[in-house]
Amino acid sequence: CGIVGYIGPNNAQDILISGLSKLEYRGYDSAGIAVGDGACIATRKKAGKLANLTADLEHSPLPGTFGIGHTRWATHGPPNDTNSHPHATENGDIVLVHNGIIENYLELKEGLLERGHQFRSDTDSEVVAHLIEEAYVGNLEEAVRAALAKVRGAYALVVTHKDHREIVAARTVSPLVMGVGEGEMFLASDVPALLNYTRQMVFIQDGDMVILNDDGYRITDMQGHPVQREVETIDWDAEAAEKGGYDAYMQKEIFEQPQALSNTLLGRLHDDQGSVELDIELDPNSFDRIHIVACGTAYYAGMVGKYLLEQLARVPVELDVASEYRYREPVVTDRTLAIAVSQSGETIDTLEGMREAMRGGAQTLGIINAKGSSMTRELDHTLYVHAGPEIGVASTKAYTSMVSAFLLLALWLGQQRGTLSKEEVARLVHEARALPRLISEALSDDRLGRVREVAQKYHQARDYLFLGRGVNNPTAYEGALKLKEISYIHAEAYAAGEMKHGPIALIDEHLPVVVVATESRLLEKTISNVQEVRARGGRVILILSDGDTENVQHAEDVLYVPRCDEMISPIVNAVPMQLLAYYTAETLGKDVDKPRNLAKSVTVE
Ligand code: G6P
Repeated sequence: CGIVGYIGPNNAQDILISGLSKLEYRGYDSAGIAVGDGACIATRKKAGKLANLTADLEHSPLPGTFGIGHTRWATHGPPNDTNSHPHATENGDIVLVHNGIIENYLELKEGLLERGHQFRSDTDSEVVAHLIEEAYVGNLEEAVRAALAKVRGAYALVVTHKDHREIVAARTVSPLVMGVGEGEMFLASDVPALLNYTRQMVFIQDGDMVILNDDGYRITDMQGHPVQREVETIDWDAEAAEKGGYDAYMQKEIFEQPQALSNTLLGRLHDDQGSVELDIELDPNSFDRIHIVACGTAYYAGMVGKYLLEQLARVPVELDVASEYRYREPVVTDRTLAIAVSQSGETIDTLEGMREAMRGGAQTLGIINAKGSSMTRELDHTLYVHAGPEIGVASTKAYTSMVSAFLLLALWLGQQRGTLSKEEVARLVHEARALPRLISEALSDDRLGRVREVAQKYHQARDYLFLGRGVNNPTAYEGALKLKEISYIHAEAYAAGEMKHGPIALIDEHLPVVVVATESRLLEKTISNVQEVRARGGRVILILSDGDTENVQHAEDVLYVPRCDEMISPIVNAVPMQLLAYYTAETLGKDVDKPRNLAKSVTVE
């Protein structure tokens, strides 16, 4: 979910809606705002995308100069008008928005029902409004504090009361940032929501409460003791967070990859010396095993990371999806380096996975995109990927940047630990330097046209199969994930060599099979797998390196990519995968930036 708050001299509705429009990537099941004008607080909320709410507000606006807003990704209760936030008490005096989960809400609700409270929604959030009401005796801050003492869970909570020109907010786990304006104050789940209004921001920390009014702000801990937090100046370009001429954020972000990768590599690859230098203070000899923990696309970036780290740096790597890692009682020692991979730096499963590793004594490193996010604050080291803001729910430039960051890490460890020769490091540094150019080439007009044709040819397929081997096995997984996320076509990925042990049964003349068959030590083996598919009538789409005319005979369709070293090929090969998903979704008329049921950043378990 995404939340916003505003207090100051200006029209609150406009600022809240503008902020929410930048947070829609955090959920778009429903949206709502509540605005106070000094006499009362009026709430308006609507199921569906933010546009439904703005349409409604257009013909009857909510006047007032302070308020709160929310865009929801449903956890408790279906996405309808009633379950949308803000939630208010029966008399409408206290209004709140909440991101996160209240774990003990059922038992709290039972108590409240016994004491005569009536609930309008099925949400865990409404429970908190009633708890605050019970504790309220004229001081909102005290009432919020008393209510939160009873609550167990994860939250970013923003509360206001009709009788106070005041907003009270609190954070445990779920992210919250405060914007400091001139004579006005802002709150939001994430930085882009506030960039149009202020660059001065305070990252609210776990266990903080903030009290905003016309005079400024105060921060305390949950017991009410004052807390000092630094005001930081954010230098992000607001433009960068806008669509800038493209049809969709995802499309724009695909085309931003050459720039994003230049930023990832900048200052870290030294072609003249043939070496790698990283801006982290990690002792390369302080661990003897690595655990990689992540979710979704970041997990597949981690999967490439495992291949790279093991091959180049010879460190044993275990890889887990975070929701499994957390509970499987992993064997962690003080010689373990636990790596979190995350675009947002806020995914709760990944963060909790890291906390599990820390309990076992591990050192922690984040491969993260979002500056100032929770993970960057909690982990020992952060290797930023510097991809810039990513808004499209389906991750593209963050993925290729994360994989590039793993390449840097693996090369650096290989160099520092001596598992790679000086010549080998220099050669790979030189190859990696070419990445921005290679990605630009992979996005040339003729290649785009070819992918679009293929997407259109197969857009009615019910299922797709993606195959790859070695370092490009994850490319197949990421390709399948992209396609299912935005086109809703079922897609399955398999290690090419494993296909004969099961999925081969699925192959018939209706099944498009995308195979990554670019230049590699294993190319011949992959081509044997392709023949197994062809022999059973499957329709093969081959991803081949430029100049490979020999293997064309095995394919019904070919997508060429620029030739490059195998170790960097997963980054280049991701591009046709992204484009295939994008054009398929476009052909099917789907909303690529907001695929159904998904959220960009999942801050619930
Ligand atoms: C969500 C998104 C995915 C993303 C995953 C991990 O499920 O829909 O696209 O890959 O979270 O996000 P992170 O911010 O941790 O990379």
